[in-house]
Amino acid sequence: MEKQIAVAIDGPVGAGKSTVAKLIAKKLGIIYVDTGAMYRTVGLYAVRHGISTKDGEKLKEVLDDINLDVEIIDGVQNIFLNGENVSSLIRTPEISMAASNVSAIPEVRTKLVDIQRNLAKSKSVIMDGRDIGTVVLPNADTKIYLTATPEERANRRYKELINRGNNVTYKEVYDDLILRDTQDSTREASPLKAADDAITLDTTGMSLEEVVEASIKLINKEEN
Ligand code: DC
Repeated sequence: MEKQIAVAIDGPVGAGKSTVAKLIAKKLGIIYVDTGAMYRTVGLYAVRHGISTKDGEKLKEVLDDINLDVEIIDGVQNIFLNGENVSSLIRTPEISMAASNVSAIPEVRTKLVDIQRNLAKSKSVIMDGRDIGTVVLPNADTKIYLTATPEERANRRYKELINRGNNVTYKEVYDDLILRDTQDSTREASPLKAADDAITLDTTGMSLEEVVEASIKLINKEEN
């Protein structure tokens, strides 16, 4: 049997984590776990139920009513909220901010980190998020911290949202990105940061292929 591996990819909004991780997963034949989708789903639940996404007390009360299931369908992660596939509903700017808000609540993190660790228990995974290398998988074989300038990241995110049919301006995307990064990196519970043993890849000016290639080199180096 081949050795089971774990790859952690962290970084700020729009650094290309999910696009890169998906391609690497395909190339290496391992599973891609998108942890942001889980925070987004909790955010969606709160918005739908009229609960303020910053109301930790209220959210703690309803946490047990939120059932999350992750299923890999045709190699793509799908996420189910109490049985409903919400994978595309969670990709809006409103839910991005809701996710950032609920992710600051320690009890929400505990619940989701548990699910994430379980997914990595028996399978080789590449997992992306904000605290994968620091908290979720501290013993990951390879830890990569992906980043790029805020302007380049906002530009990538803007194009992605426009392609998905979202009606947004570049300025809205840029402001949202700065606000989310500030929130995510200054919160008390597991803030966004590079693990001490992570390798930082600044992808500004790099093509997607170059980033994937550089990442795979790092993964292979750790394996040998
Ligand atoms: O990666 P994303 O944009 O889908 O994540 C949405 C939000 O969820 C992000 O702003 C912060 C939070 N998040 C987190 O706190 N920890 C993770 N491991 C993943 C996401």
